[in-house]
Amino acid sequence: MEYCKISEALRKKEGEEVKIRGWIYRKRSSGKIAFIVVRDSTGIIQTIVEKKNVSSEEFKNARKALIESSVEIEGVIHEDERAPGGREIHVKKFNVVGFAEEFPITEYQSVEFLLDNRHLWLRSRKLTEVMKLKAKVLRLIRQWFDENDFYEVTPSVITTNAAEGGATAFEFDYFGQKAYLSQTAQMYLEALIFSLERVWSLTPSFRAEKSRTRKHLTEYWHLEAEEAWVDNEGNMKIQEELISHVCQNIVKIARDELEFLGRDIESLKQIEPPFKRVKYKDAIKKLQEKGFEIKWGDDFGAPHERALVEGEEKPVFITHFPVEAKAFYMKISPDGKTVECADMLAPEGYGELIGGSERSEDIDSMIARLRQQGAKVENYEWYFDLRRYGSVPHSGFGLGLERLIMWLAKLDHIRDATPFPRMLRRAYP
Ligand code: 4AD
Ligand code: MG
Repeated sequence: MEYCKISEALRKKEGEEVKIRGWIYRKRSSGKIAFIVVRDSTGIIQTIVEKKNVSSEEFKNARKALIESSVEIEGVIHEDERAPGGREIHVKKFNVVGFAEEFPITEYQSVEFLLDNRHLWLRSRKLTEVMKLKAKVLRLIRQWFDENDFYEVTPSVITTNAAEGGATAFEFDYFGQKAYLSQTAQMYLEALIFSLERVWSLTPSFRAEKSRTRKHLTEYWHLEAEEAWVDNEGNMKIQEELISHVCQNIVKIARDELEFLGRDIESLKQIEPPFKRVKYKDAIKKLQEKGFEIKWGDDFGAPHERALVEGEEKPVFITHFPVEAKAFYMKISPDGKTVECADMLAPEGYGELIGGSERSEDIDSMIARLRQQGAKVENYEWYFDLRRYGSVPHSGFGLGLERLIMWLAKLDHIRDATPFPRMLRRAYP
């Protein structure tokens, strides 16, 4: 007999024979009977091991095996309303593959303890559902890019350019030369549009974030796209379509995960283009009206971001930030004071999901802005070449995958959107 997944076993009828394997999730036993709930990647099922139905060795092992022991079980399906999923297995064969030592994680544990034991805590139901959701979101993102003529590319994450500012760049010695862990793949994607026109990539990005917040990791998965012949408005259209595609379809393919995580399905179904566009200067006005002490030139913090999406069901774009507030590569608007950029803010106060812009084609203005930041301009020569040899208007954006998951899964903290979160003072396990 072949092994079947637990989700399949839960669909079988009274009296059918099944063979499953997995890990002990819960158990209790008394003299002649053991109730053992087993989990696999698809769900949980209760099994009943009775002394009279198995060998004495098997019964002894069933009583002895602790939670998280791995097991193979053969038996007969019995329909029972009281069992989780309405089915249980009456066991005929019970084999312990690996006896577990006493599992260190019990019901109430501190956040630090759970992070120290992340390699084991990944087995929890919550993290399992989040990781399934993340895989499904990636499937939808890939599908959308495939259907919209983008090529997936594989840029390097070792670079001599700290494009998003030296302050948050992880620096290291690359055979005697100063190099950085990449903060963005953007500049490499820009090089690739001259042959492929529309490209995207998924890479880790690194930010030496020294503040503790709920929304910052020092390493996150960065989904970036770059498009030739596209302006800032066209760039926003691409982003709102991508995000809407994910929302419209994730409710179809990850309903169980979303419901377990407490996400209201209906709210995601509402998300479709167009998203509201608000200019930075109007956002500042709105915040001032709400009583915030904020002025032209200031960046938004979490409370500002939350206030800006208050009452909104869909994400909102904030566009045209001041030149000084944004990176050197953004195209300066005709007013000379703002840039052709857009940040997409998630509803419900989950903050910035996407940062994007049209790219500058003016080498002198980029050099001036780099100098102001104290960057080493020589390192950007290759990037300026892209403007020298057949430059075209182009735009792109970067989406923080864990930010997207945090919003979709309604997580309190971004660390739970990734299996091994890297944060200030946390690189183990
Ligand atoms: O806004 P950012 O810094 O933009 C860029 O890096 C551009 N070069 C992207 C591009 O145009 N190709 O970062 C983009 C997104 C943010 O909107 C946010 O979702 C996420 O990356 N992000 C982080 N996510 C988790 N932890 C951090 N420390 C993050 N920093 C940025
Ligand atoms: Mg940003």
